[in-house]
Amino acid sequence: MDSEYFVTWFRQASPYINAHRGKTVVVLFGGEAVEADNFSSLVHDLALMHSLGIHLVLVHGARTQIEEQLRKMGRELHYVKGLRVTEAEDLPVVEQAIGRVRICVEACLSMGLANSPMHGARLRVVSGNVVTARPLGVHHGIDYGFTGEVRKIDKRAIRMWLDQDAIVLLSPLGYSPTGEVFNLSAEDVATNAAMALQADKLLVVSESQRLRDAREQVISKLDPGDVEQLLNTSDTLSGELARHLRLALRACQSGVRRVHLISRQIEGALLLELFTRDGVGTLVTNDIYEGSKPATIDDVGGVLELIKPLEDDGTLVRRSRELLETEIDRFMLLERDGAIIGCAALYPFPEERLGELACVAVHLDYRNSGRAGALLLSIEHQARTQGLQRLFVLTTQAAHWFQERGFEPARVDDLPIKKRMLYNWQRRSKVFIKTL
Ligand SMILES: CC(C)(COP(=O)(O)OP(=O)(O)OC[C@H]1O[C@@H](n2cnc3c(N)ncnc32)[C@H](O)[C@@H]1OP(=O)(O)O)[C@@H](O)C(=O)NCCC(=O)NCCS
Repeated sequence: MDSEYFVTWFRQASPYINAHRGKTVVVLFGGEAVEADNFSSLVHDLALMHSLGIHLVLVHGARTQIEEQLRKMGRELHYVKGLRVTEAEDLPVVEQAIGRVRICVEACLSMGLANSPMHGARLRVVSGNVVTARPLGVHHGIDYGFTGEVRKIDKRAIRMWLDQDAIVLLSPLGYSPTGEVFNLSAEDVATNAAMALQADKLLVVSESQRLRDAREQVISKLDPGDVEQLLNTSDTLSGELARHLRLALRACQSGVRRVHLISRQIEGALLLELFTRDGVGTLVTNDIYEGSKPATIDDVGGVLELIKPLEDDGTLVRRSRELLETEIDRFMLLERDGAIIGCAALYPFPEERLGELACVAVHLDYRNSGRAGALLLSIEHQARTQGLQRLFVLTTQAAHWFQERGFEPARVDDLPIKKRMLYNWQRRSKVFIKTL
């Protein structure tokens, strides 16, 4: 790699490194991943994430190993509605298969050869009785036996371990207060762990290829409504993807901010997803509509970076860093994984009960998906809370955008007196006003 490329690449990754530090991330991977030749690459990536300060909770599956082990014993596998029935005689086999997978993961996380990427990593991996389970019970006359579901996650114990810099490893097993062992689905464990910990992210490593729409385009983002629609209408989803989408929906609806579906078929997918702006997976999130947040002084650099090209081509009025620093608290921002991708500002003129909507901008790569619309809604909400009755905007190139959102042409004379005095007659911006 030439040095210039390396430096550019490293600099581009740095905002993401900073953004993810101290965040709690639950990572789910199946038993197939552990079996795969390149499992150590996945482990190296996890070790790197840990060393960059991400609190990791790993959840492994063991479906293939359990099936293989049961088949070897000549036992017939029995699934009803996608759920395995675990007979009492199967349980020791299940425990053995899960135990072996867990040991394999722990061993891999203990590597530290001098010439390997794990050298010096010295990871501490912790597991324990943090998942309380209950039996799935009898449904439509089928007794699921020792197949269970998560009843509770001991989040305090997990938090304590994470705070002590350990990686927490959870298996698809749980114990009941009666002292029994239950076979759980790894998806159930991961979702419940992410929900209990209010994790910043749930990363789901899948065996399937990337999710694509009917036109074979990669789907990079979905909101819960889209997921529901996809589950109801698509007949091409693999069983695994459907399970993962249901999991994402449940997690998102229960307060997990971001669920990323990532294909294991892409080398380094976890790193690409976390440390590059666009990632390589499918992000399921509510954030598109609720992700605007007030700016703080730390955001000045990010806002300047976003608006600079628009100032350079004259679309937006130039703002100096100093001015922006004093006015930053007027801005609302949209963020994606720590990078600022949209902004809008509200300048109130309380005497006239008017507010100026200014500096509306969305990064070129993220346009046409309702983001500016979401910012406008949030500014309107803010304006109403401040008792303002109307919003005005000065624009040279986005007149129709505002008109289509209820702004009406107005005159310079309609502006608050202070603004009128500063009106730039050379720029000849058009004035629009919206009644709130
Ligand atoms: C205007 C801007 C903020 C819209 O951002 P966005 O997130 O893409 O907007 P939305 O997704 O909410 O809306 C997209 C719709 O607006 C239309 N649109 C985008 N820019 C437009 C413009 N300058 N004029 C008219 N319509 C525009 C799109 O064609 C799309 O319409 P469609 O879905 O019917 O095809 C963005 O294009 C931008 O940053 N422009 C440069 C800065 C600017 O001009 N700001 C306004 C001055 S304060």
